[in-house]
Amino acid sequence: MSITVSRDRNHRYSVVTSGEALSPAGPLRTVLEDCAGELLVVVDEAIWPGRGARIQALLSGTPHRILTLAGGERNKNLDAVLRVVAAMDEVRVLRRSSPVLAIGGGVLCDLVGFAASIYRRGVPYVRVPTTLLAQVDVSAAIKTGIDHNGFRNRLGAFWPAALTVVDHGFLATQSVEQISQGLGEVFKLGLIASEELFGRLARLSGDWTPEWFATDPAAAELMNLALEVMVGELSEDLWEQDLARRVDFGHSFSPLIELRTGLHHGHAVALDCLLSASIAAGRGLLAVDALPEIAAVMRRCALPVRHPGFADVDLLWETLTEVTRHRDGAQHLPVPIDLGKHAFLEDLTRAELAAAVARLRQVV
Ligand SMILES: NC(=O)c1ccc[n+]([C@@H]2O[C@H](COP(=O)([O-])OP(=O)(O)OC[C@H]3O[C@@H](n4cnc5c(N)ncnc54)[C@H](O)[C@@H]3O)[C@@H](O)[C@H]2O)c1
Ligand SMILES: [Zn+2]
Repeated sequence: MSITVSRDRNHRYSVVTSGEALSPAGPLRTVLEDCAGELLVVVDEAIWPGRGARIQALLSGTPHRILTLAGGERNKNLDAVLRVVAAMDEVRVLRRSSPVLAIGGGVLCDLVGFAASIYRRGVPYVRVPTTLLAQVDVSAAIKTGIDHNGFRNRLGAFWPAALTVVDHGFLATQSVEQISQGLGEVFKLGLIASEELFGRLARLSGDWTPEWFATDPAAAELMNLALEVMVGELSEDLWEQDLARRVDFGHSFSPLIELRTGLHHGHAVALDCLLSASIAAGRGLLAVDALPEIAAVMRRCALPVRHPGFADVDLLWETLTEVTRHRDGAQHLPVPIDLGKHAFLEDLTRAELAAAVARLRQVV
């Protein structure tokens, strides 16, 4: 006998921008009101000192338990997931009506989302991302995961947060470097998918501050545009059926460099974009003159334009080989061919890669 079953599943999730994420009358109100039983709230250690009192005030009418966890890539591991799972057991999370609330950076959101995806084979969760990177990028996606066995995001699941509340006010406590890490993903998106977004980055004032990102309407417009473009890119193919994805721009050479050198994800993504642009220039798909112009926009975003990992051709090639496995055996290497436009390369050679590294040394 042979029986085949095929069913589609409808997924619905919302991303809301609000300056009132921690206000009792804000967008989390219905989550708190509807929560049956005890609410588990997982909070990034970095934001607890400044926001703990407001979080406690927000939760004052709701039975809850708070677990604080450290952010940072080195804490994105199975141990942290198991701590969340233990806390979920303690509060006796229900299958549908007591969503876990995650308040923190991309690492915390990814690992709480992963815990929610595997707990009872999937329970709901809600996110309040608190870094620029998490607000403009993680928020748009349905991906969760942790690093494992020497690889980034080796374990994970597609599991949408029912609600994501983006409050730019959190960004005031980030450092310039952390803001620039988030701008790395915005820069990627602008260069490959949106000339308008790229133009806004090029026009950033040279002395922007985290406070500006937290409070200025022009900064909010920039971040909202980035989020919109990102949602537009991802929502057509949430489960990544098509493995040739232009949003993978910047994610072809960066993964192992991040893990081996400790370079932050957003900075590695931006450097990968610059290298990919140099590869495109080597093929005549992009003018060589565009490279210093692209690097100038990176400097405006306080992004690095050089790093030893991106001069190490062996490591770059090893990463591309591993990423090719992730793309089911094809390179599908996205490269920019003009502002907001792209092509995929399938046959990059090691010699071309070495030439691209050398070209950057000369022109940037
Ligand atoms: N799920 C997705 O689709 C997706 C997309 C892009 C990136 N990511 C993941 O996101 C992670 C990077 O996210 P990140 O840059 O937010 O890193 P992170 O979560 O490690 O945050 C960076 C640091 O800032 C701290 N922090 C958090 N909020 C803060 C605030 N408001 N003020 C001051 N400090 C604060 C954190 O504790 C941490 O030390 C990577 O692991 C990456 O894989 C996931
Ligand atoms: Zn990324």
